[in-house]
Amino acid sequence: MDMDKYDSVMELAKRRGYLWSSFEIYGGTAGFYDYGPLGAMLKRRVENIWRDIFVINEGYYEIEVPTIGIEDVFVASGHVGGFSDPLSECQKCHESFRADHLVEDVASNPDTLSSDELSDIIQDNNITCPDCGGKLGDVYEFNLMFSTKIGPGSKRIGYLRPETAQGMFVDFPRLLRFYREKLPFGVTQIGKAYRNEISPRQGVIRLREFTQAEAEIFVDPRDKTHPGFDSIRDHVINLYSDPAQSSGTEPIEMSLGEAVEQGIIAHQFLAYAIELTHQFLLRVGVSRQRMRFRQHMKDEMAHYAVDCWDAEILSDRFGWVEIVGIADRTDYDLNAHSTVSKTDLSVYMEYDEPKVIERIAVKPDMSTIGPVFKGKAKAVTQALKSLDAGDLTGDEVIIEVDGEQVTIPVDMYQVEQVRETIRGENIVPHVIEPSFGIDRTIYAILEHAYREEELKGEDEGRIVLGLKSEVAPVQAAVLPLLTREELMGPARGIESALKRKGVMVAYDDSGTIGRRYRRNDEIGTPYSITVDYDTLEDSTVTIRDRDSMKQVRSPIDTIADVVHDLVHGHIRFEDAGTPIE
Ligand code: ATP
Ligand code: GLY
Repeated sequence: MDMDKYDSVMELAKRRGYLWSSFEIYGGTAGFYDYGPLGAMLKRRVENIWRDIFVINEGYYEIEVPTIGIEDVFVASGHVGGFSDPLSECQKCHESFRADHLVEDVASNPDTLSSDELSDIIQDNNITCPDCGGKLGDVYEFNLMFSTKIGPGSKRIGYLRPETAQGMFVDFPRLLRFYREKLPFGVTQIGKAYRNEISPRQGVIRLREFTQAEAEIFVDPRDKTHPGFDSIRDHVINLYSDPAQSSGTEPIEMSLGEAVEQGIIAHQFLAYAIELTHQFLLRVGVSRQRMRFRQHMKDEMAHYAVDCWDAEILSDRFGWVEIVGIADRTDYDLNAHSTVSKTDLSVYMEYDEPKVIERIAVKPDMSTIGPVFKGKAKAVTQALKSLDAGDLTGDEVIIEVDGEQVTIPVDMYQVEQVRETIRGENIVPHVIEPSFGIDRTIYAILEHAYREEELKGEDEGRIVLGLKSEVAPVQAAVLPLLTREELMGPARGIESALKRKGVMVAYDDSGTIGRRYRRNDEIGTPYSITVDYDTLEDSTVTIRDRDSMKQVRSPIDTIADVVHDLVHGHIRFEDAGTPIE
């Protein structure tokens, strides 16, 4: 089979220490990948850029909660009841498959179909096992959560979290106090999530253990305007909205301000989250031309969402792939946890101006209620006070006290018109959630950075990983031209100076200089510094730019500062020294 770009990227990732199949010496298991030395460094850098945007700049503090959750949490969230994918097992080789993927070529919206509908389609179209051609079994819903037991010999069920989000909803009362009881506020988490995916065959795009970076932003449902929206209103983004998809039209290039005004994006908070996502993806190196924001169709949306946009990247083998989901989860989760935990998860919001209202109030008459109801008199008065005007027709009312129906005659209370000043109300916040898959983002970065180039006048071309220098694991290579002490000494000196500046540097003196450049091009090192015999004459070294292969000479005594500034984008390559023709 011909190698496609996915194969080339994964081959490079494996050979150079970015990504390895886990448990390789035992034959590996689908859905698990290790980040090798360069991969782990790339991942940390990507996560730290995410932190820079969401935690430092937006002020959404990061928390860390257990990756195992107790059963109640996932009963409340709906994951125990409904977090499943349709599965069909081959009756011959017993391999399992996602039934919605099996029917993709014959059904238009397979992920919206029921198990029975999928079974029928498989039968009617004679779809057989993709591996052995065997007969496929009936489709059933398979819950994707990994379960475990908490405590030795315990019957207490726990689940490995399928999203980091629930930990942030469960901590809501503490977070509300931390943020001094004011909306909006946001909280973030970067951590592992687990899904027992049915048949993961797409490398790090579909893993059983993966990393999410999620922000949960709690907002006032009555006012979803974002305080910083004016600063991004004019930014233009590539949008595929729901009606546009169904009519098959092209993407709409539109400013976020217009998109909100025309009701394409539901509100400013969502649009702002789309903008932050766009900024993040560009900054880590996802290609602008191979990225789009696609609105979910109504029947595609998660059970908790009212509007949802996916950031998708174009990949050579898999087409458009979701890497970030941005949803308005409404008050779904807080209400669900409030009901199951019996905890108030609302916020008291004061009005700007107090409201004066007139209402019919019930005034219980204690002199008649006390002697009749004795110990229950207090509960009776409470129940009477909470009645509505509409309940008060007729000569008596029926109220419930301690689970019992009690009839109260009209002479035990009076009805009066009262004026009241109301200063605020309790409301359950809505949640805006951008949910990033870090592993899919890493794959997008690698694929979009990967290129093969022919070199003029040379037999062999080169492979370049054109990573942004902010994410490149090795930021500079120091290369003495020859393994001679007089060149290795200054090269080691530059290496130490760069380390002191916090630059990740690789000292490399093995092989020809051309070979060493190629090695560094392949791992994405943005700058190489070469020490040669001219260095001993004029105290300058060569800096080579990975992408253009241009070279400049720069003084050795300021080289660490110059490379540090290059790596962090503070200076341009042309300004780093004197060009070599
Ligand atoms: P898909 O439909 O592709 O399974 P999803 O809609 O289930 O994705 P979400 O539930 O919205 O994904 O999860 C949020 C983000 O977490 C996704 O955008 C993705 O980047 C990441 N993610 C989800 N499942 C996986 C997985 N199995 N492996 C790697 N990343 C994942
Ligand atoms: N938190 C969104 C998701 O993982 O589905």
